[in-house]
Amino acid sequence: DPKGVLQINGQTYPTDDWTNVTPKILSYLGANKHVQRNHPLSILRQRIVNYFYAAYRNSRGNPLFSVYDQLSPIVTVEQNFDNLLFPTDHVSRARSDCYYINRHQLLRAHTTAHQADLIACGLDNFLVAGEVYRRDEIDSTHYPVFHQLDAVRLLTKETLFGRNQDLEIFENDWQLKSKTSAIPETSSKCLDQTKQVCHTLEAVKLMEHEMKDVLVGLARDLFGTQLEYRWVDTYFPFTQPSWELEVLFKGNWLEVLGCGIMRHEILQRSGAHNNIGYAFGLGLERLAMVLFDIPDIRLFWSNDSGFLNQFSEENLQKLSKYKPISVYPQCTNDLSFWLPLGVEVDTGFACNDFYDLVRTVAGDVVEQISLIDRFKNRKTGKSSLCFRIVYRHMERTLTQAEVNDIHKRIADACVENFRVEIR
Ligand code: PHE
Repeated sequence: DPKGVLQINGQTYPTDDWTNVTPKILSYLGANKHVQRNHPLSILRQRIVNYFYAAYRNSRGNPLFSVYDQLSPIVTVEQNFDNLLFPTDHVSRARSDCYYINRHQLLRAHTTAHQADLIACGLDNFLVAGEVYRRDEIDSTHYPVFHQLDAVRLLTKETLFGRNQDLEIFENDWQLKSKTSAIPETSSKCLDQTKQVCHTLEAVKLMEHEMKDVLVGLARDLFGTQLEYRWVDTYFPFTQPSWELEVLFKGNWLEVLGCGIMRHEILQRSGAHNNIGYAFGLGLERLAMVLFDIPDIRLFWSNDSGFLNQFSEENLQKLSKYKPISVYPQCTNDLSFWLPLGVEVDTGFACNDFYDLVRTVAGDVVEQISLIDRFKNRKTGKSSLCFRIVYRHMERTLTQAEVNDIHKRIADACVENFRVEIR
């Protein structure tokens, strides 16, 4: 936009040299597949919410958890990263990985972005569901918009220790021992499974036990009581210690969720200094694909009744399996081009920019893109790239003429946007 602004849902946002969100991506805002009646993502969301409603009740029998599933996906860099203690140089902040509206605002890259705000509102047991946005490659399991569900549970000394009120959540002299608070300058990406300095071992162990119990219960609810699972140590900037839960599914270990004991700095800054908490987050598509046997992530965006009518939220306990009506043929075309002189393949050309351009021009008929060749001509000094683009429509057969036309439009857009020379 020449005026340097973007209009999104009637609101005006300034653009700057950091802006990389495309009109195509903005068109997903408000789609809300995770609350669409009878949509598989919505069915799965309800299953998980109901599990938490049943797992935690107050003395009057009411659910402890509240659900937020319509929060705006436009968040600040503080919400998405800083408040969650991402180091200032953390890779996931990169412009090549996120959709930025400008230097200060972006489309959330995870639903964890709302965590600190909701705690600051005084909430202590909540679930957040919504779509998230990440720049990535194009294949059957990646899509630039997908859905996550996050949860936070905070406990006090009273609720954590019950009758054993002689126990403590915090070490007596931890303020002296730890030099906490500010966001670290550089990432210590190393795995650190030790407890945080401020916590007592008994508080962490109890918290870990409750969290793992509830999450294995969730996995059993979804995959059946016979499931095999394992806990894998991992790192998140906002939890310590952190784990991933993996489930054995059809012979493969499938990563189901990430979780951990919340970093106390986050709670402190949100006014919850007396609490200890756990948090977890999971991707709805990844789970829905295995639970409903859905083979391609693009199907979640299909409006085809042949797809949508196969799922019903009437009986949430019985998840139906997807039956492909038929699989339409693929069509493969290669695209090779010379980069402008002086532009290097590794430093000057971001493949994610190319993928976004393809999405803008061709949309969902592109099933997969792979970089199949790259080389530098010694004599001319120019670099060449070759991408293989697989086309397939989800609901009908594409003709060769149609594919050729789309392919030509992609090539033209590349010439215009990247000043490349088609080979
Ligand atoms: N936000 C993490 C992700 O996107 C998931 C997570 C949430 C992990 C909360 C731990 C706690 O992968």
